[in-house]
Amino acid sequence: MNKTFYIETYGCQMNVADSDVVAAILEKEGYTRVTGEDEADVILVNTCSVRENAELRARGRVQGLSRVKKRRPGALVAVIGCMAERLGETLFEQEKNVNIVVGPDAYLELPDLIRRAERGEKAINVELSTTETYPGICPSRGDATAISTFVPITRGCNNFCTYCIVPYTRGRERGRQPESVIREARAARDGGCREITLLGQNVNSYRWQDNATVVTFPELLREVARAVPDTRVRFATSHPRDMSDEILHAIAEHPNICRHVHLPAQSGSNAVLARMNRQYTREQYLERVRAIREILPGCGLTTDLFVGFSGESEADHRATLELVEQARFDAAFTFKYSERPGTVASRQLPDDVDEPTKQRRLQELIALQRRLSLASNRADVGRTMEVLVEGPSRRNTAEMSGRNEQNKVIVFPARGRRAGDTTRVRVTGCTPATLLGEIIDE
Ligand code: 5AD
Ligand code: SF4
Repeated sequence: MNKTFYIETYGCQMNVADSDVVAAILEKEGYTRVTGEDEADVILVNTCSVRENAELRARGRVQGLSRVKKRRPGALVAVIGCMAERLGETLFEQEKNVNIVVGPDAYLELPDLIRRAERGEKAINVELSTTETYPGICPSRGDATAISTFVPITRGCNNFCTYCIVPYTRGRERGRQPESVIREARAARDGGCREITLLGQNVNSYRWQDNATVVTFPELLREVARAVPDTRVRFATSHPRDMSDEILHAIAEHPNICRHVHLPAQSGSNAVLARMNRQYTREQYLERVRAIREILPGCGLTTDLFVGFSGESEADHRATLELVEQARFDAAFTFKYSERPGTVASRQLPDDVDEPTKQRRLQELIALQRRLSLASNRADVGRTMEVLVEGPSRRNTAEMSGRNEQNKVIVFPARGRRAGDTTRVRVTGCTPATLLGEIIDE
């Protein structure tokens, strides 16, 4: 009988994409994907290390698998992804349920490692590579009916922001062959996807060189937009330093590239930005926001911010709040600083903002952004917009949920529309997180 595997994903979009690569690698070996751990011969937990909480969640999950192991001692547990990379061998000692440990650049070894674990041997590979991009693997999507999917264009990161674990868990930045990106985008479109998000830790610095030809990010973006002209194209994440006007013009020129930029600011204080090694100032950040508003009127703008980094004073925190007011983000992902072992900050910059202060600053930031998100959504009430329908809304199955070009979620009575349809919707109301609307007949 065919062996089975179950894969669960924590963390970022890159991990979601990686899980589909891992699934394809195992399916090629004859394994069948199942949707729960109870029937799986191999249970894979794809982990994230970006904050301590993410690791605690993954560990909790691995510990919870004792239940399965008791019933079926032959079932194997593989910890893969960033936490596997960061902790390596020590995971075997710390988590007795773990049989296999594999880092983000070693997924091609998984079938071999599983065989070794089946023989009772230690099975680990956390080698990082400077070249691996899994070009020959066509990802096997977990949700075959999903209308939106990710296509990685770079792996790894060279920025070394002082707080960030990613350069250590995913290694150096490398771009994927343009042909491989285009092939994957077309395959996703042919498989029913209506939206493709090009992924990388810092997509703007994408660069592919083959002898005399060099392909940069705006060129790749244009090529993808032309290759799948009937499909929405998005990209994430952008680094403010590398967010050029040329990229903004590429978005402006192609109707299928969505007018939405996710531009992590992290902080609004120049002193903090310098300690983070972000390589831009608040003035430069706001200049990019100005360029986005000028070249792309109506563009959605979202960001990542975190409070309580080393040395963050009350004045630094207020500078962040002011930046948020000035940039008028439509939405923001907000976090508390979490020191990551191995980073430059963990060695040189003390984690010296106390927990209650971090908590209070985070609450202030969330409250401010909630007010701005509500204002942004209110400004949309009365407007009509094109929406890509994603599926039934979570609260009410008579309603559908989708997203507009700006990446805002909008919920509306279904009236026969199905996932994958594009429909015109008039906004009739909103909450800070969601637009509410009704379908407009063409
Ligand atoms: N602590 C808190 N937040 C972090 N991020 C990255 N590293 C850390 C850390 N050590 C946040 C940043 C980044 C997002 C993915 O996670 O805001 O953009
Ligand atoms: Fe981390 Fe900076 Fe790379 Fe983003 S760009 S993953 S914050 S090192």
